[in-house]
Amino acid sequence: MITVKNKLFNITTKNTSYICHVRDGKYVENLYYGKKITFPEGADTEAMVEPLREKFNNVYGNTIAAAGEDKNLTLDNLNTEFSYPAVGDYRITSMLLKADNTFSSRFYFKDSFLYEGLYKDSDLTKMPHARYYEETGKPWTLELIFEDEAAGLELRLIYTAFEDCDVITRRTVLINKRDSSVAVRKLASMQLDLPGKDYSLLTFDGLWTRERHLNEKKLISGTYVTESTVGTSSNRHNPFIMIKKNDAGEHAGDCYAFNLIYSGNHKEEVEVSEYGKIRLIQGINDWCFDMELKSGETFYTPEAVMTYSDLGLNGASANCHDFVNNHIIPEQFRGKERPILINNWEATYFDFNRRKLTGLAKDAAKLGIELFVLDDGWFGDRSDDTSSLGDWDVNEKKIGGPLKDLITEIKKEGMDFGIWVEPEMISEKSRLYEAHPDWAVKAPGREVYTGRNQMVLDYTREDVRDYIVDKLSKLLSDNDVSYVKWDMNRHISDAYSSGDCDSGIFYHRYVLGYYDVMDRLTKSFPHVLFEGCSSGGGRFDLGVLCYMPQIWTSDDTDPNERMMIQGGTSYGYPLSTMGAHVSASPNHQTLRHTSIDTRFQVATMGVLGYELDATRLTSLEKKTVKKQIEFYKQYRKLFQFGRFIRVKKDPNLEIWETVSADRDLAIALLYQAQSEPNQSDDILFAKGLEENATYKVTGRQIQISIKEFGNLINMVSPVNIKEEGVAQAMVNSLYAMDGEKEEYLVTGSMLMHAGIKLNSRFVGTGLGEGTRTMGDYSSRLYVIERMI
Ligand code: DGJ
Repeated sequence: MITVKNKLFNITTKNTSYICHVRDGKYVENLYYGKKITFPEGADTEAMVEPLREKFNNVYGNTIAAAGEDKNLTLDNLNTEFSYPAVGDYRITSMLLKADNTFSSRFYFKDSFLYEGLYKDSDLTKMPHARYYEETGKPWTLELIFEDEAAGLELRLIYTAFEDCDVITRRTVLINKRDSSVAVRKLASMQLDLPGKDYSLLTFDGLWTRERHLNEKKLISGTYVTESTVGTSSNRHNPFIMIKKNDAGEHAGDCYAFNLIYSGNHKEEVEVSEYGKIRLIQGINDWCFDMELKSGETFYTPEAVMTYSDLGLNGASANCHDFVNNHIIPEQFRGKERPILINNWEATYFDFNRRKLTGLAKDAAKLGIELFVLDDGWFGDRSDDTSSLGDWDVNEKKIGGPLKDLITEIKKEGMDFGIWVEPEMISEKSRLYEAHPDWAVKAPGREVYTGRNQMVLDYTREDVRDYIVDKLSKLLSDNDVSYVKWDMNRHISDAYSSGDCDSGIFYHRYVLGYYDVMDRLTKSFPHVLFEGCSSGGGRFDLGVLCYMPQIWTSDDTDPNERMMIQGGTSYGYPLSTMGAHVSASPNHQTLRHTSIDTRFQVATMGVLGYELDATRLTSLEKKTVKKQIEFYKQYRKLFQFGRFIRVKKDPNLEIWETVSADRDLAIALLYQAQSEPNQSDDILFAKGLEENATYKVTGRQIQISIKEFGNLINMVSPVNIKEEGVAQAMVNSLYAMDGEKEEYLVTGSMLMHAGIKLNSRFVGTGLGEGTRTMGDYSSRLYVIERMI
C-alpha cells in the first residue's frame, strides 16, 4: 500500500514501512525504512512524523546551507532520496549531469503521482521488470517528480511496493525538456540513506569456478564499492548485496537486501558519512558511461530491488526468494517443477559422436533422468574452443545425421532434448566472421584481444540481433527442443561498435540488445526452458531470470566448493534458480575426491542434474544414482520451491533446510567439511516448523564405500583386501556398507530449540551399531515429516 498525504509519502508492505516527505518545499527527506510502524486511525500523520525529521537547530562548522527557508539545513547531513553535486552534499551522489557547461543540478520537488499497478512506462524502458499476478496482489506505484528549471530537466523517482514479499522496487527516469542535449555521466536507480553507522556490508564475490562467496565487512568511515566492469553482471561481484546491523545474525536482527534487475555493468556504493550515516547507491556502473541525452529524450534506469527484515539474514533472503519466484521468473515457469537433466559436457567435452551421445542417453534414461542436454561442439566445425561460434548450423557429420534423428533417438528413450548455444559470440575462425568482420566488438585500428579464442558479437546492432534471432528460431522450430542452455564465455573488453552506438553508452546498449533477443525468442518459444550460463555462474542476476528461470550456478561442481557457491547464492536467489549437478570424482575443477552421496546431497539443494559419463558408472554407482533420482523426484517440489533456511553456519559444519509452505515437510542437509577426531557429536537443528506439531525425522540411508576405510577394512574382512588392489576395486564396484539408520519422533519445538543429538561419529576406535562415519566432505539428509 502507498499513501500520499499532502507531502508525506508512506509506502508499506506486509512488515515494512518506507516513509519520506517534502522538506522545505523542495527536498524529499527519507524519514524511515524498516519494520512496519503504524499511525492511529485518522491521525494527522504529517504532524506525527515530526520525531522522524532530522533536526537542524544550528549550522555546523563550515557546512553549505541549502537554498530555502531553513537557513540551517545542510544537505550533507540530510537523508535524501537522491543526490547530485554542487549543493553542499559531499557524499557519493546518485547522479552526475552536465548541462550548460556546469555539473550543478537543482532538482526540486514538483509533484507526486500515485496509482495501482506497475510503473506505467515499464515497457518503454526496454528492460525486464518485476511482474505481478492476481494471487500476489496488485502493487501500488508512486512517482515523485522533480524539476531542474534552470537546466530544463525532469527527474522521476519511481517506487513500486510488492506487499506480499516486503519488496519495494525503485528506478529513476530522466526527461530532457531542454532544446539541447545533456551529458549524463551517472544516473543510479536508487539511493537509500539510513541513520546510524553500526552496519556490516555483505557482498557476494569471486571469479570463474568460485562465484558468489560471501564476504562480510564491518563498515567504518569511508566508501565501499562493489561493481562490474566486464559488461555483464559478472562472476566477480554480484549486484545483490546486503547490509545488516552489526548485531544481526542469520535468524534475527535488522537486515536490508538490494538487487538490480539488470545484466550489465552495475555499481553498488556504500558510504559511511562523517556524520555517522549510511548512504547506499545502486545502479548502472558509471565507469565508461557517458551518454548524450538529446532534447526530448528520456533515459530509464533499470529497476532496483530492496527489502528489509528484522528476522535476520534468512528473513531478508526469504523475501528475495519470494520476490524472484513470484515476480521475476517467467509466468509459464512459476512454481513449475524442473526436469532432472544430464549434460554431456564433463562426460565428453568436445569429443563426441552419435554412438557416444546415444550411449550416454540410454544409460541416463535407465537411471531416471528426464532431459538430455547436448553441450558445446555440435555446430560448424567445432572440435575445440578455437572456432565456429556464430555458425549455428548442425555438424551432421559429427552427430551422425540430422539433429532431428538424434532427438528422435533420445526421445525414444523417454527423455526430452536440450541444446547448448553461445549466441553472443563470434570466433575469428568462422564463416560468420569471414562474412561480417565488423560484427565483432573490437576497437578500430587496435590489436584484437580475445578471450577463450573468441570475440563478442555486437548486440548493439539490430542486423546482428536479427541474424541471431533468425538462426536460433530456425534451430528451435525445426527441432523438438525443450531446453536451451544459453552460455556466454568471455567478458567484453574493447567496448566499441562499428554501428551507430556511441562508446559512452555501448555497455548499456549491449545489455538492451541482449534483452531484445531474449524477449523475441522467449515470446516465440514460450515452452522452451532456458538456463542461463556464463562460464558457469558469471551472469547470475535478476535480468537473466526474467527470461530464464534457472541459471548454471558454477562450472565448479565440487560439493565442498558448492557449499560456498550455492550457500552464497542462496542469500539473494531461491533454490529454483540454481542449477546443481552431480559430477565425477575426482572433481574436474579441484581434483577433490568426494563420495557420490555427498555430491548428490549438496546438489539436491537446487535444480538437480548429472554431468558425468553415466556409461562408466559401476553397477553399484548406477544403483545409487537411481535411488538418488527416485529420492529427488519424491521431494522435488521441496528441493526447488521450499522455504530455504541456513540453519547453522560454522566454518566446518553447516545445516541447510528446505521447508514446505504448510510446514508439513522439511529436509535438512548436514554438511561437514573436514572430520575432526574426537569432537563433540552433532546436534541436528531445524527451523520454520510448527512448534507443537510432531515430526518424524529419518536420516536418508546412505552407503559408504569400503574404499573409505582403506586397509582398516581388513579388521572385519575374512580375506585380506589390498588397498587400491584389484580385489578392492571389485568389491567396491559391487558392495558398499550401509550407513547408520536414525529415526526420531520429536515436536517442532524440540527440533528447533533443543535439537536432536545424533548418533556418535566414527573416531577410529571401532565401528559400533549405528555409528556415523563422517569423513572429510561428508553429509547427511534428514527427512522431517509431520505426523500430527
Ligand atoms: C562454459 C559452461 O559453463 C560449461 O558448462 C560448458 O557449457 C562450456 N562453457 C562449453 O564450452
